Amino acid sequence: MVVNEFLKEVKKFGLPLSHGLDIASYLLDINYNDIGSYYNAVLEENKVEIVLEKLKQHIPTAYITGRKEFYGREFIVNEDVLIPRVETEILIDEVLKKYKDGSNLEIIDICSGSGAIGLTVMQELNNCHLTLLDISQKAIEISKKNADKFNLKNIKYICSDILLYTTAKKYDIVLCNPPYISYDEYEGLQEEVKYEPKNALVADDNGLIFYKNILSKFSLLCKSNGAVFFEIGANQADSVMGIAKVNNLMAECVKDYSLNNRVIIVYNK
Ligand SMILES: C[S@@+](CC[C@H](N)C(=O)[O-])C[C@H]1O[C@@H](n2cnc3c(N)ncnc32)[C@H](O)[C@@H]1O
Repeated sequence: MVVNEFLKEVKKFGLPLSHGLDIASYLLDINYNDIGSYYNAVLEENKVEIVLEKLKQHIPTAYITGRKEFYGREFIVNEDVLIPRVETEILIDEVLKKYKDGSNLEIIDICSGSGAIGLTVMQELNNCHLTLLDISQKAIEISKKNADKFNLKNIKYICSDILLYTTAKKYDIVLCNPPYISYDEYEGLQEEVKYEPKNALVADDNGLIFYKNILSKFSLLCKSNGAVFFEIGANQADSVMGIAKVNNLMAECVKDYSLNNRVIIVYNK
């Protein structure tokens, strides 16, 4: 089967063209940006069959190719980590707006998964010190692979449950895209999403436990002029702003490109 025919097959699964192009470039072992010159290239039949079978089972494209682009860089992913989402790029934009001239910043990415957020910020800002924290050792291993891929050194990795975690160290920036889906919402998710680790998606307390926990220890985690950058679910802005208020903190909310509330930044008053 040639690439052109393969793209038509992929389209039948309702996936955007970019997914077909991504898988085709993966099968040909070429750079995604070069696929335009390979529309008539022949793909190996047995590999095509395996891929189409996986798509039939709703396995996400990123788990088939083992990679996902985030903020212009290609991250290694597998079933042990959440696939980085384009909406999360807003959080990076907000950090850069506020800290682009900063240096020597102490940064922690809590619930770091593949490391997409922390490793991106580390590459976009000069000279910062990064800690990645996740409850999953398997996720930590993937984030280490990504750090190696980008040749990033001196990162601290902590495998721990943030809900139980305390530290004597304070940070300038806390980054956090926690699990925030309620158990009820999880049931209604698309089949593709259910291939991702459930503990990367679902959170107790109607999806709010991580916001409550982290903001209750804001002064422990953050320097006095520090800030927490959270990703939130589209319908969680009021609740998370309320949690900030209860903890006597200031918060602002930023929308994503679909105009959904997506990022909440929390500071000291
Ligand atoms: C929504 S994913 C975010 C991954 C990555 N930061 C991103 O944006 O693509 C949430 C991550 O939180 C981790 N996690 C779940 N419960 C945790 C806990 N109690 N303490 C620390 N990390 C936790 C999961 O292993 C998962 O990697």
